[in-house]
Amino acid sequence: MEIIILKNAEKVAAMGGELVAELLRVSPAAVLGLATGGTQLALYRILVAKCHAGEISFRNTCSFNLDEYLGVTPDNPQSYRAYMKRELFDQIDIDQDNAFLPECDEGQNPVLVGPAYEQKIREAGGIDLQLLGIGVNGHIGFNEPSSSLNSRTRVKTLTRQTFEDNSRLFSPDEFQPTLAITMGIATIMNARRILLLATGENKAAAVSKMVEGPLTAMCPASILQMHERVTVLLDEAAAGGLRNRDYYEWTHLQNESLKDRFGRSHES
Ligand code: PGA
Repeated sequence: MEIIILKNAEKVAAMGGELVAELLRVSPAAVLGLATGGTQLALYRILVAKCHAGEISFRNTCSFNLDEYLGVTPDNPQSYRAYMKRELFDQIDIDQDNAFLPECDEGQNPVLVGPAYEQKIREAGGIDLQLLGIGVNGHIGFNEPSSSLNSRTRVKTLTRQTFEDNSRLFSPDEFQPTLAITMGIATIMNARRILLLATGENKAAAVSKMVEGPLTAMCPASILQMHERVTVLLDEAAAGGLRNRDYYEWTHLQNESLKDRFGRSHES
C-alpha cells in the first residue's frame, strides 16, 4: 500500500483532488467510484473548483457510488443521491444519467438491485478509480465487520455503531435507515485503483488495523492489503496509531523523486 501522511485534512483533500484530476486529464472518460461521508466533502469542493476553473471536466465520465440507504427515496435530503447532487453532481458538468447509485426504486425487489448494479459496472468497463473513506469500525462502503471478503453488491444491515455514528445527521423525528445496499468487498477490490482518505483522531485505530493489522473480515478495510494499487491519504491525527510510520514517510520521499523520473508512484 502506498501510505501518504499529510499535515492536515486540507492537504489530504488537496492531494486527493489532484490525483482525481490527474486521472481525468489522462482519461477523460474514466469510470469513477464515488463515496459519501464527511471526509469526502473537502475533496468534492476541490473537484468542483477545478471543474469551474476549466482544469477538468466530468462530461465524459460515468460514476458509481459505493452505497445507498434502503427505504429512503432519492428526493429525501438524507439519501446519498441527494448528498451527491448537493455536494458534487449539481455543481459539475457530469451527465447525471451516467451517475449511478445502488438505488432500490419503490416496488423493486432489493435483492435484485445488487446483481443489476454489478452488471452495470461491468458494462461500463469496470471502475478506474474508487474513492473510499473508512468507518471507525473499519468498514468500507457499508461492508460492516464480518462481511464476506468475497461479497458483491447486496443489502447489508448497519451495525449499531454505524447507526449511532450517523444519527447526528438525522433529527429525532426523522426515519433513520438500518439497511443499505452497498458494493461488496470483491466489487471494490475489482477497481483498478483505490484512493482511501482518512482524517481525524477517531480514525487512527481503524487505519492502523487496515494497514498493519491482520487481514480479517472483522476489519473489512484490511482486504486492501491484497490490492495492487491503493493509495491511502492520511492526516497526522489519522496516522497516529501507525507503528511503521518512519518507513511510509521514507518511502514517500523516495517515490517523489521516482515520480519525477517516471511520472507516477510505483509503491504498492
Ligand atoms: P466519514 O465516513 O467520512 O463520514 O467519516 C466514512 C465511512 O464511514 O466510510
